[in-house]
Amino acid sequence: MGLTSLIYQNKSVILFCLVTYILFWLTIATFQQSTNRNKNQQLRRLKYRSDSTFSFILDGLLPLKVNLLLIDPYVLQYLFIDQFSFDKLEKELITFGIIDEFVEKFLQSFQGNNFSINISKNDLSNHKISTDHIFIEYKQKIIHLAVFHKYKSFYLIEENTISLSTNIQLSYGDTLRAVEPTEIAVHEYSFFYPRDVSHFLWLYETSKFLHCSQVLANRMENEFHLYQNTSQLNVTVVPMRNIAYALNKLKKHYWLAGGTLLGWYRHCGLIPFTQDADFGLFAEEYDESIRNHFLGNPITYLWGALGLVNDSLEFRLYTGRFTLDLFWAYREGDHRWCGYQVQRAKFRRTLPLLETVCSCDLFGSRFSIPCSPIDYLDGEYGIDKWKNPLEKNYTWVNMKFHSLWDDISWMYATRLYTRQGKLRRDKVAIDWISKHFNYSLTSIPSFLNILPNEPVVLPPLKTKLVYGSPIKRKKIKKKRFKSSHRNQIK
Ligand SMILES: *[C@@H]1O[C@H](CO)[C@@H](O)[C@H](O)[C@H]1NC(C)=O
Ligand SMILES: *[C@@H]1O[C@H](CO)[C@@H](O)[C@H](O)[C@H]1NC(C)=O
Ligand SMILES: *[C@@H]1O[C@H](CO)[C@@H](O)[C@H](O)[C@H]1NC(C)=O
Ligand SMILES: *[C@@H]1O[C@H](CO)[C@@H](O)[C@H](O)[C@H]1NC(C)=O
Ligand SMILES: *[C@@H]1O[C@H](CO)[C@@H](O)[C@H](O)[C@H]1NC(C)=O
Ligand SMILES: *[C@@H]1O[C@H](CO)[C@@H](O)[C@H](O)[C@H]1NC(C)=O
Ligand SMILES: *[C@@H]1O[C@H](CO)[C@@H](O)[C@H](O)[C@H]1NC(C)=O
Repeated sequence: MGLTSLIYQNKSVILFCLVTYILFWLTIATFQQSTNRNKNQQLRRLKYRSDSTFSFILDGLLPLKVNLLLIDPYVLQYLFIDQFSFDKLEKELITFGIIDEFVEKFLQSFQGNNFSINISKNDLSNHKISTDHIFIEYKQKIIHLAVFHKYKSFYLIEENTISLSTNIQLSYGDTLRAVEPTEIAVHEYSFFYPRDVSHFLWLYETSKFLHCSQVLANRMENEFHLYQNTSQLNVTVVPMRNIAYALNKLKKHYWLAGGTLLGWYRHCGLIPFTQDADFGLFAEEYDESIRNHFLGNPITYLWGALGLVNDSLEFRLYTGRFTLDLFWAYREGDHRWCGYQVQRAKFRRTLPLLETVCSCDLFGSRFSIPCSPIDYLDGEYGIDKWKNPLEKNYTWVNMKFHSLWDDISWMYATRLYTRQGKLRRDKVAIDWISKHFNYSLTSIPSFLNILPNEPVVLPPLKTKLVYGSPIKRKKIKKKRFKSSHRNQIK
């Protein structure tokens, strides 16, 4: 996707793209060229004399003029969060990242040293050999170089294939992992490190990378003639990236859910005809920074917040053309649940616990997904049912009616906002609540989906009560399945 193809909405989109783009190239450029490294090296020589073995190996590598980025989570924590000294580090192995285009040069110039070296390689299909990991050993200390392979807008680090002594647990090379470009700084020992260490560590936790099912994706095209819809992609990609970018920045875990996850896995893209995108979030990580970010957001603004913060919370975001849903999944015992609101009825969908999330590629960007996407999809749609795209009336098998909102909660369980991020107090907003309410509401009682601490007085009763149950369940079910595109697989 070219930059130009993204410039269609407004200035903020352009700005957003530009900033990410520039950040990306800045990072690569510094990592590759490292302008002030020589100066730094001399500085360090004057200031420090270390007799640690790691420092000795690093000194041996420095003349080779390859840039090393410290990515070892343990060591990053040790040096930059706990603020301990590099020379006191008691560890057998330290992991650095190295960009793949430097590897050949590095290996050539490395000959003739006293260090022992072991290399993990991969045979690529076109008779090319890819070097994935380099282990440099000296006096029982190992410098591990994990090779960054450029992949779309980020890097992949492959799984290590050579056997190491059993007491070594690799932080990279243990599994396929994704690393996003990051702003970097130079350490006094002349290697680079991520400028925002705690954010880098946070991302590391979700860096395990999973591929979509190319087999299913091919089948969708060849067998079912379902192709990716360019005009749909055009209105989807930027807002989805915007949300992922924002949640990453706010350090909130999320995962692609529902039809969006299905689209990624089964189509390696989107399900054609989809009209929204779903993001799941951990309820325990909720705070108002998320609402604040999306209120009046120029790319994806919050137009509706449904549920209460502690119960069935869901944000509906809108771009002007496309809806994106954030829903929070509440932890309960060995699983999670998230809410689904139909008028005053609350439904609950049961989800797996998701102790952590993993990474995937969608539209060339990194997104987070459940680490067992197949189990997740089986749970939502029924085992293997989702592999068949032709059932239009597909339902969530993990959803159950739970209860109705009580009168007081109902007054706080829907908040609508304008494109500018102001609370809507107009007729539409009042009617939304009034329509399923026996009390005559005349104003919206708060900005947030939170019950106040003090007792709430209900407004006066209407003269004409809303009789009968607002959910004639059968009827609603039918209506829901007709109107909710989210349940339709195709
Ligand atoms: C999608 O965007 C690209 C680039 O702006 C444009 O060339 C293409 O015509 C668009 N596709 C559709 C179907 O709108
Ligand atoms: C290798 O080790 C030997 C013995 O420890 C030493 O004499 C020699 O200088 C070392 N060579 C290099 C290139 O470091
Ligand atoms: C690494 O290679 C050296 C020889 O260069 C060998 O002696 C050593 O056993 C290897 N170590 C591992 C962990 O494979
Ligand atoms: C492609 O997506 C657009 C916009 O979402 C939609 O209007 C159109 O019907 C879709 N076309 C096909 C062939 O699915
Ligand atoms: C949310 O909090 C209210 C009180 O503030 C409480 O009555 C309600 O049970 C809570 N809901 C859930 C799902 O925990
Ligand atoms: C879809 O609807 C048809 C007719 O109503 C029904 O026979 C079929 O079982 C439904 N399929 C699913 C998966 O619900
Ligand atoms: C309104 O009150 C009537 C009579 O008490 C009751 O049957 C009905 O369920 C109430 N409606 C709502 C939405 O609570």
